[in-house]
Amino acid sequence: MWVGLILATSGIGCDRLPGRPEEADRFVRPDRLLDPDALLARHCTGCHGEPGRIGPARDLGDPLYLAWIGRQGFRRTTEEGVAGTPMPAFARSAGGPLTDRQIAALVDGLYARHGDAAAGFAAELPPASESEARRRGLEPGDPARGEIVFGERCSSCHGGLGGVGGSVTDPAYLALTSDAALRSAVVVGRPELGMPPFRGYEGEPALGDQEISDVVAWLAAQRPERPSEERRSAAAGLPRSEP
Ligand code: HEC
Ligand code: HEC
Repeated sequence: MWVGLILATSGIGCDRLPGRPEEADRFVRPDRLLDPDALLARHCTGCHGEPGRIGPARDLGDPLYLAWIGRQGFRRTTEEGVAGTPMPAFARSAGGPLTDRQIAALVDGLYARHGDAAAGFAAELPPASESEARRRGLEPGDPARGEIVFGERCSSCHGGLGGVGGSVTDPAYLALTSDAALRSAVVVGRPELGMPPFRGYEGEPALGDQEISDVVAWLAAQRPERPSEERRSAAAGLPRSEP
């Protein structure tokens, strides 16, 4: 037994000769990197924060977000980015830095780690996009109805000065934020910041699918015309992504 133990420990020792690089320290060509954590750290956490932590942009490890948007939707946004916002395109085919295999590894890694919790959410979540809402037979979002929803369900936190949620009708915020991200804010919330998901807050009922489309349409209608490129990156205050 002792002999086995000595052999086993000395086996480990051989791999740890002084000066010999550890596996994790070895240079890996950027396009060969397939470790999801390393990919996230290099390309995403500067804006999104580490999964499960607070960052300027959404927490990519939020299980409700992952369940709601689905692998395909997550992957498409990562590949194509979101035009007019700081979210860059990552696919080579869209001028980005990552190969298809790397994007698959990143998405699979996130779902593997946070997917168990995501699987706990009921199948019938609100539509993940305006076009899916239409396919489910909803009416187009109506800003007039949305203003009423905002007054009833949002303004307690977002109304004017002093609300815990700040102003989400601030032109600088809306100019940099897509309708898709407004929808995900309403459906998934930013629980790490105190913004509740659609499921109701302090005993209120959940927001209905039509109410979600309406309030998103109202917020989108408050958006000013798109500012110029320079003002956009200055207002974003987000680090530029590495190409
Ligand atoms: C319980 C208080 C509360 C309620 C109710 C609430 N919010 Fe929020 N909301 C917050 C907080 C807190 C934040 C984070 C603000 C920050 O850190 O700047 C936030 C953030 C947001 C954001 C920005 C998200 C982002 O990614 O930066 C949007 C958009 C938003 N809320 C819309 C709404 C809408 C629309 C409603 C009503 C359907 C609503 N909120 C209801 C508290 C609330
Ligand atoms: C330069 C900052 C920046 C970097 C780097 C970045 N993102 Fe984003 N990302 C954003 C912003 C800002 C948004 C919201 C865009 C919008 O308004 O639709 C966003 C949105 C997203 C969304 C959709 C979220 C939603 O609520 O609609 C996904 C998914 C996403 N990013 C994934 C990634 C992944 C994966 C990486 C790394 C490979 C990454 N992002 C790197 C800034 C960034």
